[in-house]
Amino acid sequence: MSLLETARAVRENAHVPYSKFKVGAAIRAASGTVYAGCNVENVAYPQGTCAEAGAIAAMVAGGDTAIAEVFVIADSPEPVPPCGGCRQKLSEFAGGDVAITMCTTDGKTLTMSMDQLLPGAFNASHMSRNMDPA
Ligand code: THU
Repeated sequence: MSLLETARAVRENAHVPYSKFKVGAAIRAASGTVYAGCNVENVAYPQGTCAEAGAIAAMVAGGDTAIAEVFVIADSPEPVPPCGGCRQKLSEFAGGDVAITMCTTDGKTLTMSMDQLLPGAFNASHMSRNMDPA
């Protein structure tokens, strides 16, 4: 299955009784393994999680920590962009050149790099003065 097909399929499992907005995400790790995630909402609304966060959690649980490529899909008029929090979560594991493709269910796509989605990202180098030498 392609990354797009994986994201499209997992989107069907989204738990979205509140927003009714299903999102699917698929990550290909540097190892080649593909991980999927969907959004999982909660009656206590802030406890809900995004599709990207689910795919990242699956990836880390599966033993991978390097993202090679990402697809996100939703039934939106324009390709659905990851929320701000998910951009930061993705940037923990994705280099600046990693391609993130946003898709609509009817076939519109937009690909942006991690650097384009989160310019000036906060990263470990910003804490270098406060960290113990390795
Ligand atoms: N959502 C995602 O899962 N990923 C995104 O990139 C944008 C938003 C979810 C969160 C919530 O369940 C629903 O979409 C509406 O915000």
